[in-house]
Amino acid sequence: MEMNIALLPGDGIGPEVVAQAVKVVKAVGQKFGHKITFKEGLVGACAIDATGDPYPDATHEICAASDAVLFGAIGDPKYDNDPKAKVRPEQGLLRMRQKLGLFANVRPTFTFPSLVHKSPLKLDRVEGVDFVFFRELTGGVYFGEPRGRNEQGTKAFDTNVYSKEEIVRLARMGFEAAQKRRKLLTCVDKANVMATSRLWRETVQELANEYPDVKVEYEFVDAVAMRLIQWPKAYDVLITENLFGDILTDEASVISGSMGLMPSASLGSNVKLFEPIHGSYPQAAGKDIANPLATVLSVAMMFDYAFDLKEEAEAITGVVNLSLAEGVVTEDIAEGGKSYKTSEVGDWLASKVIKAY
Ligand SMILES: NC(=O)c1ccc[n+]([C@@H]2O[C@H](COP(=O)([O-])OP(=O)(O)OC[C@H]3O[C@@H](n4cnc5c(N)ncnc54)[C@H](O)[C@@H]3O)[C@@H](O)[C@H]2O)c1
Repeated sequence: MEMNIALLPGDGIGPEVVAQAVKVVKAVGQKFGHKITFKEGLVGACAIDATGDPYPDATHEICAASDAVLFGAIGDPKYDNDPKAKVRPEQGLLRMRQKLGLFANVRPTFTFPSLVHKSPLKLDRVEGVDFVFFRELTGGVYFGEPRGRNEQGTKAFDTNVYSKEEIVRLARMGFEAAQKRRKLLTCVDKANVMATSRLWRETVQELANEYPDVKVEYEFVDAVAMRLIQWPKAYDVLITENLFGDILTDEASVISGSMGLMPSASLGSNVKLFEPIHGSYPQAAGKDIANPLATVLSVAMMFDYAFDLKEEAEAITGVVNLSLAEGVVTEDIAEGGKSYKTSEVGDWLASKVIKAY
């Protein structure tokens, strides 16, 4: 297969972790016979420094012409510590999502056999956890109008708005993912109180007729917040609106005990984007110590979601599990034991892809 991948390394540790993921992608290309070309663009603080714009048109053109985007992280202390800065790296991220039409954020939660003891939950609750959130990303209360304050500044308001169309396109992704997994879909809402949630529930109920092989459950968001911790193994695919998804996916990310290892994808109409869930970890930038595994697992998601190449995706998750089992890990996981540099872990993973599969 021919693949055009846009690389947006971004700031801080972004370039270092993306470089390791690229080694692994090249190894997969070599092993499985794919022709892969990369084009790099600027995003975030480094883009502001170079062009004054956190998501320059030139970067958008590279992304729009690609099959998939691999994104590192953005953010720099000089902007974090200057709340008055008019142009900010995060604006680049929001504009990129909007312009690429990325309306669904996909965040899997799973455990790593050799790291399961790191979970804050009891072993019997987390061993074998494997669920995935589909969070609506471009609608709801984060974007609804009107928003603001009254003239006296004593009342503030946000508006939660969802159209049926926005719900359908997100829910379909959830149903289709469930069909390929354990065929259980949970619609997370607050339909006992909120009109938007009632539209979500009604719409999902209608759609369910088209997916008779998928069992659908409806749960209130407050109940899911509890059950995710009590019975995380009860879930397979969860769909939800922007605000609920923002909160629940962060809660879910600690279940595995390894937030620095978690990948994600943002899907939409055209291009698909893949990124680690961690930030730019500026304290580690340039030190060759950052953990590259979340970015490497993001390219496993890329092969699965963007190219429907399951064997390639499994080859990558396989070598990541091997590196954890054999202790070829960066210092954040080594816990005082022998640790490896970011670049060494990347080299090791790439060589294992070539040798082991
Ligand atoms: N999607 C994004 O690009 C994104 C997401 C979150 C934060 N940010 C930005 O990143 C900057 C730093 O934010 P933060 O410190 O809150 O979050 P962060 O994720 O960058 O770092 C938080 C902590 O997590 C650990 N960590 C994160 N990534 C790691 C890795 N690859 N290897 C080992 N340890 C890792 C470190 O202990 C670090 O101190 C800020 O500018 C913030 O705005 C960007």
